[in-house]
Amino acid sequence: MEQKHHAFSYLEYDSMEELSSSDRELLEFAKKAVDTAYSPYSHYKVGAAVRMGNGQIVTGSNQENMAFPSGLCAERVALFSAAAANPGIPVKAIAITARSLQFPVTNPVTPCGSCRQAIIEYEMLSREKIRIILMGETGKVLTIGGMEDLLPLSFKEEGLKKL
Ligand code: THU
Repeated sequence: MEQKHHAFSYLEYDSMEELSSSDRELLEFAKKAVDTAYSPYSHYKVGAAVRMGNGQIVTGSNQENMAFPSGLCAERVALFSAAAANPGIPVKAIAITARSLQFPVTNPVTPCGSCRQAIIEYEMLSREKIRIILMGETGKVLTIGGMEDLLPLSFKEEGLKKL
């Protein structure tokens, strides 16, 4: 028996002004996308922006439904529309942010488990890490080098692709 350890490092910035221009631009797109959320049930508006390898930026926002599980998170709305519009092009980065109509969102917004799994699929597809940029409405910004860091030991079965 051997004990294994998993650790990862990420960067924490005091404000978005400290980011590189490319990360700041993507986060600004995500912040604008917040306004397009359809979230009459949670009143929590999430915006996501995806940068593709061809330079295209595609945004998305959470889309809720009165049959709750039928809604979709902002990250997957952005990611799936980016991939559908750019087949074969790698996803380079995703920025995620949110605003609530009920409380100030002061901590960085981190993606839910299903979105982590969806993002990691596109890393596997292109064999390239996807940079992750996270922020609340205000406060600190986190940048993470790839989704493997947020979803260690993720489900991966290349054999499923063999048919
Ligand atoms: N939501 C996202 O859009 N992304 C996440 O990563 C977590 C949650 C949405 C789903 C729902 O519309 C609202 O936020 C509250 O959970």
